[in-house]
Amino acid sequence: MITGLLKETGLEQRVALLPEMVANLVRLKVEVYVEKGAGTAAFQPDEAYVQAGATIHTRDEVLKKADLLVQIGEPSVELISQLESSKVWLSQYNPLWNTDLVKKFIEKGISSFSMDSIPRTTRAQAMDVLSSMATVAGYKAVLQAAFELPNFFPMFMTAAGTIRPATVLVLGAGVAGLQSIAIARKLGAQVQAFDVRSAVKEEVMSLGAKFIEVEGAKEDSAAGGYAVEQSEDFKTKQQQMINDYAAKANVVICTAQIPGRKAPVLLPKVAIENMKPGSVVIDLAASTGGNCELTKNNETVVFNGVKIIGQSNYPSQMPVDASKMFGKNMFNFLQLIISEDGSLNLNFEDDIVKGTCITHKGEILNERVKSVIRS
Ligand code: NAI
Repeated sequence: MITGLLKETGLEQRVALLPEMVANLVRLKVEVYVEKGAGTAAFQPDEAYVQAGATIHTRDEVLKKADLLVQIGEPSVELISQLESSKVWLSQYNPLWNTDLVKKFIEKGISSFSMDSIPRTTRAQAMDVLSSMATVAGYKAVLQAAFELPNFFPMFMTAAGTIRPATVLVLGAGVAGLQSIAIARKLGAQVQAFDVRSAVKEEVMSLGAKFIEVEGAKEDSAAGGYAVEQSEDFKTKQQQMINDYAAKANVVICTAQIPGRKAPVLLPKVAIENMKPGSVVIDLAASTGGNCELTKNNETVVFNGVKIIGQSNYPSQMPVDASKMFGKNMFNFLQLIISEDGSLNLNFEDDIVKGTCITHKGEILNERVKSVIRS
């Protein structure tokens, strides 16, 4: 089998496989074609891929000759139109959101896999790109907040007086939220966190943050560790509580999400109106509408002196380690679909292969994607 590593498009700086992962694939008897310059933005020269055992080709050659095409981001509809139906596609293409891409893959009869659909099970942990990239985003979000804030994060006792530590409010304590809490604590801030899942209370507290509790949250153990939609009564109580805490915070990091849905709005305009001028909101959920009503995706909005930052691709800003993590996750997944002689083996008896496969032979295999497309 030939695996084709494509160069990302747009502003993306990561690359799906670093040379070290390409070397691992070559050891598995897989031939790897790398698009010229695929790793340049992540500081990986073509020569490093050649040393790892790959060959360098033009984009057209890779698209034509490779059996399996890999990249990080979503393909365009035009690119899918260009591909032969025998190709297998693997990237993080967010099928719950990009339903047009799913429909195009079906129309073309192409087998497509999306790394963001890896089941959240113990066995699949080593392939979970969402957790890896959320770790990067949670870290970068705090660094950017610290950079933008006109105050210190840590407490200082100086000859010029005592500086009080910054207060950071984290909304949503999943992977990104917990990482933000840990980094904000390391920088010396006082941290408060809120989540609808009570299971995270202990983790939040063990990182040295205060857990804000609102009674009556709906939880569902069948939701695979994800949050579920809340009742109107709960939302009203929660809103009041968040508004009060946000008014006293210097920084709010928004990370709340329900997969496949628009992000819940937890910081309405009125909450921003009550925040201190100079405060910073980092909205990690910007690409799915944002947790803040005023967020604009990939823009910074200043309202009443509060900076609301909607950067939706922090991993691209840290391309070396983000690519390293992504590539390791992807390689771990690839091992499941490569047989001993280096050929492609799509074994749908394996729950990870089945769960990650979005389209195959003109049909949608993934149940969640199926229900979103039907509704
Ligand atoms: P996650 O699913 O692990 O965590 C989300 C948390 O939000 C969960 O703990 C959930 O219980 C909580 N939540 C859901 N609804 C809530 C509500 N109404 N109130 C309070 N908490 C609520 O997700 P993860 O992996 O941490 O990602 C968080 C966000 O960051 C997502 O929107 C994701 O798309 C985004 N992200 C952004 C990146 C960027 O560069 N901006 C990069 C990677 C992820």
